[in-house]
Amino acid sequence: MQKLIVNGGKKLSGEIHIQGAKNAALPIMAASVLCGGEVILRNCPRISDVYSAMRILTYLGCKAGFEDKNVAVINSENISAEGISDELMREMRSSLFFLGAVLGRTGHCRITLPGGCDLGPRPIDMHLSALRKMGVTIREEFGTLDCTAENGLHGAKIDLSFPSVGTTENIILAAVTAEGSTIIRNAAREPEITDLAEFLNACGAKISGADCGEIIIRGVEKLHGCQYTVMPDRIVCATYLACTAAAGGDIVVSGCRPSDIEIILAVFEQMGCIVHTGHDKIYFSANRPLKAVAPIRTMVYPGFPTDAQAVVMAPLCRAKGTSVFVENIFENRFKHVGELCRMGADILVEGKVAVIEGVNRLYGAKTCAADLRGGAGLVAAALSAEGVSEISDIHYIDRGYEEIEKALSSLGADIIRI
Ligand code: EPZ
Repeated sequence: MQKLIVNGGKKLSGEIHIQGAKNAALPIMAASVLCGGEVILRNCPRISDVYSAMRILTYLGCKAGFEDKNVAVINSENISAEGISDELMREMRSSLFFLGAVLGRTGHCRITLPGGCDLGPRPIDMHLSALRKMGVTIREEFGTLDCTAENGLHGAKIDLSFPSVGTTENIILAAVTAEGSTIIRNAAREPEITDLAEFLNACGAKISGADCGEIIIRGVEKLHGCQYTVMPDRIVCATYLACTAAAGGDIVVSGCRPSDIEIILAVFEQMGCIVHTGHDKIYFSANRPLKAVAPIRTMVYPGFPTDAQAVVMAPLCRAKGTSVFVENIFENRFKHVGELCRMGADILVEGKVAVIEGVNRLYGAKTCAADLRGGAGLVAAALSAEGVSEISDIHYIDRGYEEIEKALSSLGADIIRI
């Protein structure tokens, strides 16, 4: 098992380019199944979840691979399977997006319950009830879901009880070539949804309202391939800013979209960091002792994203005063807290609330990642700790971060992978 060894206490400096967004690339790769042609995806991150998605595409009979460093080429002319193996389904939660896409392409799909980071029970009830409204019959037995649209998929009016990102994406994928129109009310408004809609529209779909919570999809006969550039990863961007806030220093982040993370930038400014933004750049400085911030509640977009909770918590461990997080989206997303406390942090978790009392210093310790963003939070904390930290189970981190140790080393961090 690989580990990261971090020798903390070094300030960061330099410029870093932000990778393409995992949570946009994955649904877009699933959507490529609907095109029946060649898709060229630029700014596609080389992360393990993308390789998992390529294995699913290959399993389905598509061609999928990287042509250049971050250019993925997918050809879905031939689909030979109408299902995904249990092993592949278990690799990540995003395997679920392939359900809507394969149903849209073939009218039948057999899957098992998806895997992914353990953030609490991650039911798929909303996905299934929406697909049933679109004409899909779902037979569930022993964890296998056999989904069939006997008379083809048809449009529907769907009111989501919660603006679920994955459910919104699955409905879009099933609706783009369905008979008639589909309207999704209380839809998720995350920027990755807009990116998926823009990709599909470039392939000939007719989707509107992706950024306003009420999405209308008018079914079309057929889609075609296209060339598309994936949006920058807003959570990876927030992560490297959090690393700098924790370790101190001055960095420039390029190839990012500051408008996607305004609410997070405001939190860093509350901490005492200096933030200047350009069109696709952020100039970030953290050279003063940090201050605690007002309570942070994770919410759906455009609120504070749950995916940024762990990474923003790291610098707050040494901020002067008391900070509070309320995790409203997932039931079990504080697994990094115990590991931070091993480094000397003073954090109390009560249900969905975490109370952080700032301490003067953190100390290097042996820690273990338990999920993707929690692992990234441990890296940020280790950069600010005195002494050497070891982070194991870093396969979680590799799911969403392209060579995190190389990115941070380029900013002057003393971090190696063994
Ligand atoms: C997506 O997960 C992201 N993953 C997550 O990012 C992100 O944390 C999450 O959205 C929230 O923004 C991808 O895009 C691949 P949800 P998803 O459906 O689609 C409940 C990361 O770190 N729910 O919006 O699974 C669910 O249990 C990952 O990159 C139901 O109850 O999120 C959760 O409490 C982690 N029934 C809440 O909704 C359903 O049918 C939000 O889930 C579906 C969801």
